[in-house]
Amino acid sequence: MLLSVEGLHAHYGKSHILHGVDLGVEDGAIVSLLGRNGSGRSTTLRAMMGIVPPSAGKVVLEGRDLTGLRPYTVARAGLGYVPEERLAFPNLTVDENLQMGVQPGRAGETPWTVEDMYGYFPRLRERRATKAGNLSGGEQQMLTMCRSLLGNPRVLLIDEPTEGLAPKIVEVVMEVILDIQRRGVAVVLVEQKLTIALKVAHKVFVMGHGEIVFEGTPDELRERPEIRRDWLEVS
Ligand SMILES: Nc1ncnc2c1ncn2[C@@H]1O[C@H](COP(=O)(O)OP(=O)(O)O)[C@@H](O)[C@H]1O
Ligand SMILES: [Mg+2]
Repeated sequence: MLLSVEGLHAHYGKSHILHGVDLGVEDGAIVSLLGRNGSGRSTTLRAMMGIVPPSAGKVVLEGRDLTGLRPYTVARAGLGYVPEERLAFPNLTVDENLQMGVQPGRAGETPWTVEDMYGYFPRLRERRATKAGNLSGGEQQMLTMCRSLLGNPRVLLIDEPTEGLAPKIVEVVMEVILDIQRRGVAVVLVEQKLTIALKVAHKVFVMGHGEIVFEGTPDELRERPEIRRDWLEVS
């Protein structure tokens, strides 16, 4: 496994939210993390990044134990993160935001460049001199995703990237995610739209009440209507 999460627990104050989450991400794979609102998907990503310090368990990337390290160190070690709240620097321009995200790539690998990002999202090129605070929600989303990618991560954790986007942009975002994977970056995708999540994922984890309640391929999930009914569909 490229990335493994073992028995992860996390709390917000006294609320015990994650109850021993286990996840494995193989090199170059797209893994979807599904579940209803409040099931703990975002907290899992935050605990992996060290934003919410795990109270027990382990996060290991390429054999390196990242548990409990600071978010900055975790990012440097190769975990990229696109949070659900899009965190562009509002007073910096699009171009400045992108330049700030640039980290050297690994030896022997072609790093992502700001030009690559403008290639994916011509809209960002048009707005390169605009302050991020003046962008639409969708544009900020693209910007945050690009900035994380420019950090040249080994694994990119993306929290609901298509939330609130127009259908046409959703398609572009999904194309970019597939392209990221083709270029060798593994992806952990939290995605509300089940059809999309199943279409792109190699492996699916379903969360319920802070635990993994199903793990398998998209086809295996399709064969388990009760998992969808009990843990995914809104009742
Ligand atoms: N900052 C926070 N402080 C306290 N409780 C939180 C916080 N963020 C999330 N929670 C709670 O943790 C649980 C899991 O939330 P979250 O990980 O955001 O779920 P998901 O991303 O699957 O919708 C929910 O019950 C939510 O109310
Ligand atoms: Mg969430």
